[in-house]
Amino acid sequence: MWKLLRKLKDLVFYNADREFYAKVFPGSVKTKDLLRIRQMDTGDLPAVLEIEVQNYEFPWPEEIFKDCLRTMTYTNWVLEAPDDVIVGYCIISVAACEAHIMNLSVNPLHQHQGAGRKMLEHMIEYARSRAECIFLEVRPSNPRALKIYKKFGFHEIGVRKAYYPATNGREDAIMLELELVPML
Ligand SMILES: CC(C)(COP(=O)(O)OP(=O)(O)OC[C@H]1O[C@@H](n2cnc3c(N)ncnc32)[C@H](O)[C@@H]1OP(=O)(O)O)[C@@H](O)C(=O)NCCC(=O)NCCS
Repeated sequence: MWKLLRKLKDLVFYNADREFYAKVFPGSVKTKDLLRIRQMDTGDLPAVLEIEVQNYEFPWPEEIFKDCLRTMTYTNWVLEAPDDVIVGYCIISVAACEAHIMNLSVNPLHQHQGAGRKMLEHMIEYARSRAECIFLEVRPSNPRALKIYKKFGFHEIGVRKAYYPATNGREDAIMLELELVPML
């Protein structure tokens, strides 16, 4: 317990330190290092939905996010900038030693600066001690997402036919898997 509290304290002081250096010596600290991940709550939903509608042609409605927040097997996080602005969010479910990434989304203004990578790393570390593998689905028309997942070692294991709604009917989903090796 004390070990955990000390770890938390170190984390807080480390971030404060980084924020200080970022203010005094702008450019000495990378933007992504100043981003903090914390658990999502219902108060975050307006900001989350604003990003969701910008990123997806078929965005999740608010009720789905509320369900995720209510469901025990789901863990929901937001990624925050030092000024408390939410720049992204991610959701994972873990059950029966299998994890499933449900959503990973970064505000378009903050994309390609390492935010997606930071959240993906966080979800993988979270799942490592709880699951043997992580699954997810991605649209073939989303090469950016495919690229980031493949960089992290996800590999294709199949296709779910006509899985997603699309403007001209339905779109397949590429199923990806990452096998997890527990850290000793
Ligand atoms: C996919 C997504 C989460 C990536 O987040 P991001 O913050 O832009 O990604 P990062 O800056 O951390 O980059 C990680 C990797 O993603 C890839 N990537 C990110 N933006 C890219 C772009 N504009 N073009 C090409 N590749 C890109 C790169 O491979 C990058 O690796 P690198 O840093 O070694 O070059 C983000 O683009 C997004 O929110 N997209 C819309 C929602 C979505 O499609 N989510 C995934 C659903 S399955």
